[in-house]
Amino acid sequence: NEGSLWGGRFAGGPADALAALSKSTHFDWRLATYDIEGSRAHARVLNRAGLLDDAELAGMIDALDRLDADVRSGAYVPAESDEDVHGSLERGLIERAGPALGGKLRAGRSRNDQVATLGRMYLRDHARIIARGVLATIGALVDQAEAHLEAPMPGRTHLQHAQPVLLSHHLLAHAWALLRDVQRLQDWDRRAGVSPYGSGALAGSSLGLDPEAVAADLGFFSATHNSIDGTASRDVYAEFAWVTAMIGVDLSRVSEEIILWATKEFSFVTLDDAFSTGSSIMPQKKNPDVAELARGKAGRLIGDLTGLLATLKGLPLAYNRDLQEDKEPVFDAVDTLEVLLPAVSGMIATLVFNTARMAELAPQGFALATDIAEWLVRQGVPFREAHELSGAAVRVAEQRGVELWDLTDEEFAGISDHLTPAVREVLTVEGSLASRDAQGGTAPTAVRRQLAALRTGLEGV
Ligand code: ARG
Repeated sequence: NEGSLWGGRFAGGPADALAALSKSTHFDWRLATYDIEGSRAHARVLNRAGLLDDAELAGMIDALDRLDADVRSGAYVPAESDEDVHGSLERGLIERAGPALGGKLRAGRSRNDQVATLGRMYLRDHARIIARGVLATIGALVDQAEAHLEAPMPGRTHLQHAQPVLLSHHLLAHAWALLRDVQRLQDWDRRAGVSPYGSGALAGSSLGLDPEAVAADLGFFSATHNSIDGTASRDVYAEFAWVTAMIGVDLSRVSEEIILWATKEFSFVTLDDAFSTGSSIMPQKKNPDVAELARGKAGRLIGDLTGLLATLKGLPLAYNRDLQEDKEPVFDAVDTLEVLLPAVSGMIATLVFNTARMAELAPQGFALATDIAEWLVRQGVPFREAHELSGAAVRVAEQRGVELWDLTDEEFAGISDHLTPAVREVLTVEGSLASRDAQGGTAPTAVRRQLAALRTGLEGV
């Protein structure tokens, strides 16, 4: 049973059906170079513990280096009979180092602590790639915000016109959410950067190996303090899946808006040809497929998270083979975001905004009613009454089929003595926007300060 890691107590090899079920090389092979890196570190602690002499260590490292090169070039690939990446690489090591030396590497480690460690190494690397992709998307949003710093648009709640806002303010709202996602990945790394290597199968190692040395060798902050936790926990994977799902959801929300904005009815944006698709039958079509795929992939990322949580929920300690199912969800999350993020950032970077139309619609639908109420408050009217009076003005305008600024001085005066002609100073989009100048508001001055704060946040990640 060549290539198997556990033949000794078995009279025969596994049934074909078991081998087919058990096999994971088709998805865990992407951990191969991490496995070899872990093996080098393991060889060094075996040497320090006196279990490999210096010549054996040199021979082992040399064989591992050659195996690494063959894996990277594609000259070495898993055989049909290999169960998983670990077994396959042991076979490849023994082919290169010979059985006497190659057979020594497995002392004091188990696939259980190995695989738990390699997964963290892989995810930590890819969390950095994903963070860079999210930062590029934030960059595209910030560039668009800066290019349209004072352009007004209708701000909405319940998808209904609510109050005018700046397009820059709206775009930056998405940027802040994505910045928190990058910060989440960084914060996650503090927990992911703890190495389970040395946990053995579940109980630790008796061979005098130093887990902290392996951890440092592999770029971890420290080693786990509990070997059962080290081999059986996957909350770090689940947390990664949650953050990637959240990134998917945040990309989906901005995408949903782009889909709406690109409709004939909204006509707020035009998509660049390079980031839109046509129809096989309707010659006129220009479709927002990037945004729609982002919205669709969010569902997939949520599925990766919930699938993983469902796998974990009933597992007793310590390792159970169910845990082999931990990898595909997080690998899928990585693959999904690494292909999605460049497309979304490219789509956002190349959007062309119809700022004239957005400005025209900004005050419509009585979006300045709150400004009337707040102007009345500044004249000393209690807000409760001010709200009623502004609502009455909306009712009069609606009955006449006009907007608030079309009401005559007499009509305002007919509603209340408080509504003098001076109220007109807030009945413009510019006046409304400029008045919301406290921190976090949509006034151009506040948005400039916001941009500076966001840049500081971006420097901190
Ligand atoms: N392929 C396994 C996994 O991904 C490696 C650990 C196997 N351990 C075991 N005791 N069968 O989880």
